[in-house]
Amino acid sequence: MKVIIAKDYDEMSRLAAEEMAKVVEVKPNAVLGLATGGTPVGMYKELIKMNKDGKIDFSNVTTVNLDEYVGLAGDHPQSYRYFMNDNLFNHINIDKSRTFVPNGLAEDIAEEGRNYDKKIDELGGTDIQLLGIGNNGHIAFNEPDQDLVAGTHLTGLTQSTIEANARFFDSIDEVPKTAITMGLGQIMKAKKILLVASGESKAEAIKGVLSGKITTSNPATMLQMHRDVVVIIDEAAAKLVK
Ligand code: PGA
Repeated sequence: MKVIIAKDYDEMSRLAAEEMAKVVEVKPNAVLGLATGGTPVGMYKELIKMNKDGKIDFSNVTTVNLDEYVGLAGDHPQSYRYFMNDNLFNHINIDKSRTFVPNGLAEDIAEEGRNYDKKIDELGGTDIQLLGIGNNGHIAFNEPDQDLVAGTHLTGLTQSTIEANARFFDSIDEVPKTAITMGLGQIMKAKKILLVASGESKAEAIKGVLSGKITTSNPATMLQMHRDVVVIIDEAAAKLVK
């Protein structure tokens, strides 16, 4: 695991964008695994700027996202499809038909999950998977639990995640209670993983990621079993790291 401590959020965003750009430079038709949430917004802004400046070309890139709320259509402003269009895809030269987000409106979510895994396999897997981390150590919607699931699956959100995500909705009652998410097995198949975190609220979870111990009560600790992980965090998120 390579750990880079940036001085603040902006530097974290810039360094993370450079990691993504390096992958596309080497492989113009790369498959990028993308993530939503507040953390990657700055990185996406950097990538948009790099694209406008001619420093990164998305015309042959394919993307697969980690997760989606169940019950929200892609044009719902809080859906992750909408987030990706709004924060990245609408502003870069990507072919949107090659951008994949799980379908939260699928009638059979289990089947949607199996098809999503199949799609990723057919694409040859992700060349780099971007991950944020929850205050509780979740990655995508893989919440702390006794068991973790390998493939893309239907999952319930923990109360702490519902509370953390309520800031994006008009009221906490509007936060969906279930989601479809890539599982840890699918995430771990990525050729490279880029984990980003900013702020003191992530310090405890990050401490776990670098602890040398693996536990399902902090799902992100599993990343220690992957052979190519880059962790880019700001000083606040690194507060408990020695
Ligand atoms: P955040 O979410 O980037 O909005 O903090 C990260 C996550 O919950 O995975």
